[in-house]
Amino acid sequence: MRKNIVAGNWKMNKDHEGALSLTSEVVHMAGDELTDDVTLVIIPPFPFLKPVSSLLPEESHVFLGAQNCHWENSGAFTGEVSASMLASIGVEYVVIGHSERREYFSETNEQLARKVDAVLNQGMIPIFCCGEPLEIREHGDPYQYVTKQLTESIFHLEENEMAKVVIAYEPIWAIGTGKTATSDQAQYMHAALRKHIEERYGKDLSSRISILYGGSCKPSNAPDLFSCEDVDGGLIGGASLSSRDFVDIAKSF
Ligand code: PGA
Repeated sequence: MRKNIVAGNWKMNKDHEGALSLTSEVVHMAGDELTDDVTLVIIPPFPFLKPVSSLLPEESHVFLGAQNCHWENSGAFTGEVSASMLASIGVEYVVIGHSERREYFSETNEQLARKVDAVLNQGMIPIFCCGEPLEIREHGDPYQYVTKQLTESIFHLEENEMAKVVIAYEPIWAIGTGKTATSDQAQYMHAALRKHIEERYGKDLSSRISILYGGSCKPSNAPDLFSCEDVDGGLIGGASLSSRDFVDIAKSF
């Protein structure tokens, strides 16, 4: 059985007080309204990781995630944060290769492969993001584009490592735009990605990998998206800034 995961990527939003109140609300509502078969991940900006973690009950199914990390453990990399630092404060998931990192910070597939290694080496779970831009969706081959991202950044992993990876398919034209992929478009790409993983790692492993959808996912479209056979949850941006919307999305399975 694959895990159903709903992860809230706050991006560069909230202040200290706002981070604490949003977390408390999510933890409270999740405790009252969600069953154990949904894993929630809260992904705040770096300065709020530790304060947010102090609000997560030990026995809960709400976990802490970070938005990025460097591939080295330590060194002269001003402004960067290492995977070992994140692990040392209880982070369990790390988003790697978000399209905003790829676009605004020029992260390459090769660098992302090193980041995935760093996260796994620290015993954390990478949420590896992939997805095609609009021009590829309209005039190119989204499947080729996205499978190349997987091949170049995660297909060097051994089977036992790959089994830990979570994938987020996020068509770039749907991120923060209000344009969501239809459930047919999402299912088509998720099934294709799973097939691509199967070709490299076999059916058993590919059937155990959670593949999340991201891109303008909200309470109104989550039930349709999450009902797709190969969609195992969501990586949520804007809607994760509202506790009500975030938990409602998690109730959509
Ligand atoms: P969005 O962002 O939900 O605001 O579209 C998704 C993401 O960037 O992960």
